[in-house]
Amino acid sequence: MKLSQILFSQGFGTRRNCADLIAASQVFIDGSARTNPDQVFVTEGLQFSVRGEPWAFHAAAYLMLNKPAGFECSHKPKHWPSVYSLLPAPLRDRPTKTAVSGVQAIGRLDQDTTGLLILSDDGQLIHRMASPKHHVPKVYEVTTARAITDAQVSELVQGVVLNDDPAPVAAKACERIDALRLRLTLTEGKYHQVKRMVAAVGNHVDALHRAQIGSLKLPTDLPEGHWRWLSADELAAAMQSN
Ligand code: URA
Repeated sequence: MKLSQILFSQGFGTRRNCADLIAASQVFIDGSARTNPDQVFVTEGLQFSVRGEPWAFHAAAYLMLNKPAGFECSHKPKHWPSVYSLLPAPLRDRPTKTAVSGVQAIGRLDQDTTGLLILSDDGQLIHRMASPKHHVPKVYEVTTARAITDAQVSELVQGVVLNDDPAPVAAKACERIDALRLRLTLTEGKYHQVKRMVAAVGNHVDALHRAQIGSLKLPTDLPEGHWRWLSADELAAAMQSN
């Protein structure tokens, strides 16, 4: 692929911006400034730097973010900063086939929820994983305001009625971690589902953390507010979960 196309495809601005970066000797590959926009490179495994920042070519972007509390999963947040502000600009600006550029979060979390977010610019994966039809299990660690009773645990598994739908929703699994903490597995993604289910059994969510989506677990070495590319194995696991 031509160097100018490589930069454009990775989100380094308009075609004009990319041409300017190349002309200004801001793009390095293998230790040399590359000033010919038409020079062709093999993209597989290509590493380069732009304005001194290293970058790895990815034909499609698949990443995970350890979401901190206090961020909204929206490009146009109302009250809190956007989770997308935690990502480097090229990931927000990558051209896509849709009207929205950049990676999108697959399955939003509330502003005050922490934990695993998967983001991608692969429209098919976003559609498949976000679709309620595919029932991708999501594991949440829930801290409650009051001690959790056996009756509450069994009600959550048997199903509770939420106010927007007469059909009961049930957790796929629910286990008590300790007196005030539950591990809850859900296969739907209704609005505020965990908080509403826990409220429906007479308790209250004080803190909520997503630990797992499908077979993909939030790694313990990814600090809050940090992101990284999915490994090939993690991507395969994410693809299989739907
Ligand atoms: N359920 C909720 O109530 N909030 C979340 O952020 C995710 C699931």
